[in-house]
Amino acid sequence: MSQARVLSLVGLAAFAVAAVAFAQTTVTPIPDKEPVQTAPLNGGPKATWGDVKAGATKAGTCAACHGLDGNPTDPQYPRLAGQSERYIAHQIALFKTGERNTGMAAAMKPFADALSEQDARDLGAYFATQKSGAGVADDTVVASGPNKDKKFYQIGEDLFRSGDKARGIPACMACHGPGGAGNPGPAYPHVAGQQAAYSKRRLEEYRAGTTTQKDPHLFNIMASVAKSLTDEEIGSLSSYLQGLHERADDVAAADARRPSRRPRPHRLRRPPRLRPPRPPRPPPPRPRRPSPSRADRPRQGNTPTPAWQQAGVFVAATGRGGKLRRRSQRWLR
Ligand code: HEC
Ligand code: HEC
Repeated sequence: MSQARVLSLVGLAAFAVAAVAFAQTTVTPIPDKEPVQTAPLNGGPKATWGDVKAGATKAGTCAACHGLDGNPTDPQYPRLAGQSERYIAHQIALFKTGERNTGMAAAMKPFADALSEQDARDLGAYFATQKSGAGVADDTVVASGPNKDKKFYQIGEDLFRSGDKARGIPACMACHGPGGAGNPGPAYPHVAGQQAAYSKRRLEEYRAGTTTQKDPHLFNIMASVAKSLTDEEIGSLSSYLQGLHERADDVAAADARRPSRRPRPHRLRRPPRLRPPRPPRPPPPRPRRPSPSRADRPRQGNTPTPAWQQAGVFVAATGRGGKLRRRSQRWLR
């Protein structure tokens, strides 16, 4: 054998040994770490459907911020009354894992941490049975810009009902329902009566489009809806949602709007000063509301179906209270 041949055989042998050794090191399984334990968001085997009574007992902890029945008095805390069990449990799970960490989430996290998955379900079931209240929407007339002469809430109302095809914005009510009650199945949240400051912040977060959620598919739905909304539209949508509520309240509100015509019914809940009789506006851009019924009101652009005139209605009142009063100084009345 030539020396070169011996050398190459030796080389080959060395390669083979190395290859076996390599194969052995790679084949030998390196023990995996235990899989990270994450809370199943949609309820694992540990949780069953929420129990309303158990939730009612546990809700005492939440009362300081969200109100005992989920209707907060402080506008910086979101309204939970009428929200679906599934959505609430999902959000609590997100606070716990730290995946929902924007806005004022830090205030919420310690309370979420203390809850088991079953607690979250029970609380969700309890708040879902509570009747959501509502605030008032701002009907100040817009003085300038693309929405000049609309009432402020109407910018949002139009988007809520019809979306904007040109920009690919779907009608909000397609998912959140004509009355803003949401859809508990796919966990589209209840948005009617929600505090305007909170909705505004959420919409801005969706528009910004970034989240640390591991499974952001629900977030992404809203992110794609909100991506082209303007500041004015977000403000108006939030104001509109704040005034959106169930029909029974609208009847009371309608009564409040014409206090002089007949004796005030005893069930009137809102103080009359919220809705003073409006002075007639000098140049009427469109016919004044002929009657308090929404069915009779002239609409721009789209024709609403009677079905959701029945189902979804709102209160629009004058801009009273801190925020709205400041706005009415900037905008012509
Ligand atoms: C110290 C005040 C505080 C307490 C007490 C509190 N929360 Fe919250 N909660 C907040 C704040 C603030 C937010 C809004 C977080 C944000 O900015 O996104 C919030 C948000 C939530 C949300 C999400 C709402 C939505 O529409 O997405 C749920 C659900 C919730 N809280 C449930 C509860 C429950 C259940 C309890 C009682 C066990 C509770 N919270 C106690 C302050 C509180
Ligand atoms: C295709 C369905 C869909 C449409 C259309 C839609 N949404 Fe949503 N919306 C969602 C989902 C899903 C969530 C929950 C996202 C999450 O988990 O963060 C949500 C969340 C929200 C929230 C936050 C609720 C809370 O309690 O934190 C607001 C406010 C909101 N949507 C307003 C709107 C407005 C305004 C429009 C119309 C411009 C709209 N949505 C259109 C599906 C939709």
